[in-house]
Amino acid sequence: MTRFRAALVGLGFGAEFIPIYQRHPDAEMYAICQRSKQKLDQIGDAFGIERRFQSYEELLKDPDVDFVHINTPIPDHAAMTIAALEAGKHVACTVPMATSVEDCRRIVELCDKTGLKYMMMETVVYSREFLYIKELLEKGELGRLQFLQASHQQDMDGWPGYWPGLPPMHYATHCVGPVLGLPRKDAEYVSCFGSGTIRADMIAIHGSPWAVETAHLKLRNSDLSARIIRSLFDTARQYRESIDVYGSKKAFEWPLIEDEPAVLHTAKKPEPEIPELVRVPDFAHLLPEGIRQFTQKGVYDIAENEHLSFTQGGGHGGSHPHLAHEFLRALAEDRDPWPNARQSANWTCVGILAHESAMAGGERRDLPEWSFSD
Ligand SMILES: NC(=O)c1ccc[n+]([C@@H]2O[C@H](COP(=O)([O-])OP(=O)(O)OC[C@H]3O[C@@H](n4cnc5c(N)ncnc54)[C@H](O)[C@@H]3O)[C@@H](O)[C@H]2O)c1
Repeated sequence: MTRFRAALVGLGFGAEFIPIYQRHPDAEMYAICQRSKQKLDQIGDAFGIERRFQSYEELLKDPDVDFVHINTPIPDHAAMTIAALEAGKHVACTVPMATSVEDCRRIVELCDKTGLKYMMMETVVYSREFLYIKELLEKGELGRLQFLQASHQQDMDGWPGYWPGLPPMHYATHCVGPVLGLPRKDAEYVSCFGSGTIRADMIAIHGSPWAVETAHLKLRNSDLSARIIRSLFDTARQYRESIDVYGSKKAFEWPLIEDEPAVLHTAKKPEPEIPELVRVPDFAHLLPEGIRQFTQKGVYDIAENEHLSFTQGGGHGGSHPHLAHEFLRALAEDRDPWPNARQSANWTCVGILAHESAMAGGERRDLPEWSFSD
């Protein structure tokens, strides 16, 4: 059986994947890469990883690396992905795929040309909530899908580097992914409105004035449309990545407050009996035994190293082991992962074009044809 040699690039949030690859039967956790030597060595020592790179270019020259998993800052994703594909490596990359439509197109073309695999590691579509709704849909319990909406609201004031002033829709895949991913449809076109105003010093950075951006997406080859909502600054809201799904028989609504139960509505019941509070089950049974524990919060501190504080894993809906598993199985089975390059491009371009639409007063923006899968 082949074990695919992983090189993890960017060890902030990215380091959470190290113990998962170390325990996955299809992977060898081979190399790590990040800029500062001190943190590189701290993490390398804690997890017993010998191959360490401060230079991404050097890492790509190593013939033993089968795939890179990129978790570097947003502006680097596209260039690093393109360089890896040109060096003959498969790519898993955190969100978003790129910051321009043109870079998304280049990545799709490179995958077509080389046959290499690309997967955007969108956490929401492997969260336990998404997997629960998907199961309801597949069992026919939702009935006919009628509407989807998703929100991602987070106050990112004080976050470093590339975050200040970022147009909300430039980081929209946590909303776009689930509304397109559940019905497995492409977005055909988008119209977006901006609302409110952020502080002047923030506006100056990207020329993006809006506190909130809301978009409607028309789904291609479908009677469905979806709504997405994003805010990043100067808007009072607890961190929330939500999905609401309305079917003819049942509907799922995300809780208003973190860690409260979700609501499942059932049609054709007496009005007070329509809503029911539900605790979403875990989907660890879909994973190889060795990585099931990583669907839970708090299991990441296994290195018992005080410098490593892994808090996001279970917080992303237990998605990390599912993401790693999907990518590795795609390599092992020589099939496209989900989402593949084209789907990832369609999801990412929705956000880029939605912001363009908002800046043009809500004008419709069509998704590029090369981003369509069906
Ligand atoms: N739910 C999610 O999907 C989710 C959650 C958190 C972060 N992210 C994404 O992960 C990425 C990283 O976020 P973070 O919070 O860990 O950031 P961070 O700033 O904490 O970490 C960035 C890492 O990248 C490394 N790096 C930067 N430039 C590099 C280069 N040229 N070569 C090698 N290494 C380099 C840094 O050394 C550091 O280890 C971002 O793109 C963010 O959008 C996604």
